[in-house]
Amino acid sequence: MAGTGGAGTGPGEIAQDGSAVEFYAAMPPDIASAALVHTAIRAGTPILELGAGAGRVTHPLLDFGHPVTAVDDSAAMLAHIKGARTVCSPIQDLDLPERFGCVLLMSYLVNYGDRDALLAACRRHVRPDGVVVVQREAPGWQEAAAPREWEHDGIRYRMTDVERPAPGILAATIEYRMGDRRWTHSFTSRKLGDAELPAVLEAAGLRLDRILDDAAGWFTARPI
Ligand SMILES: C[S@@+](CC[C@H](N)C(=O)[O-])C[C@H]1O[C@@H](n2cnc3c(N)ncnc32)[C@H](O)[C@@H]1O
Repeated sequence: MAGTGGAGTGPGEIAQDGSAVEFYAAMPPDIASAALVHTAIRAGTPILELGAGAGRVTHPLLDFGHPVTAVDDSAAMLAHIKGARTVCSPIQDLDLPERFGCVLLMSYLVNYGDRDALLAACRRHVRPDGVVVVQREAPGWQEAAAPREWEHDGIRYRMTDVERPAPGILAATIEYRMGDRRWTHSFTSRKLGDAELPAVLEAAGLRLDRILDDAAGWFTARPI
C-alpha cells in the first residue's frame, strides 16, 4: 500500500506532502539528527538527502564536512538551501547517474510516503559498500499517540484528530504555532515495526545493518 501523503494549511507555500515551506524555513537547524548521521558514516562521506525540505539537516551535515545532494519535490523548500547541490524531483522518480556512500531518508517519510518506492530509490542510489540511513516512527509511537500539546524551541505543537482507521495505520493532524503564525499538517502513517522491517527491506534489496538510537527510530541498512 502506498502512503497517503498529507495535506497542510497556513501561510506561504505548502509542499505536496502537506509540509509548510515557511515553517520549515523558520525552524532551527536539526544538529542532533545531523550528528547521529555523521557518527554512523565515515568522515566526508557524500550524502544523498531525500526529502531535504528547507535544509534543516542539510546545513549541519555540510558543517560536519559531508557534501550533500539535497532532493525534494518542492522547489520553494529547496530555494532555502545554501551550499549543497539541489535536485527538484519526486524521490520515487529519482534516477541520478552517481551512487552515494550514504543515502538519508528521514522525517518519517518511510511511514507516511510510499515506502516501497522510497526504499527502492535509496537502493538505486547507494554504493555497493554504502549505507542507507532511515528515520522511522519509533516502535510504540503509534500505539501511544494521543491528542496532546507541547512546546519545543519556542514552537507550540498540538496533535489532534488522532484516528486508527485500520491496524498499523494512524491518521492525525499536527498544528504548529510560531508567534501569530499557525500551520496544520494532516497525515496518515503506516507502521514499520521490527516484525515487518526485514521483509520490507529485503523487498527493496536492502538488509538491516544496525539500530542507531535508544528509541530505535533510526537504523542503517545496506545493499544485499
Ligand atoms: C516533513 S518535511 C521534512 C524536511 C526535512 N527533512 C527536515 O527535517 O526539516 C518533508 C519534506 O519531504 C518532501 N517530500 C515528501 N515526500 C516527498 C517525495 N515523495 N518526493 C520528494 N520530496 C518529498 C516534502 O516536500 C518536504 O520538504
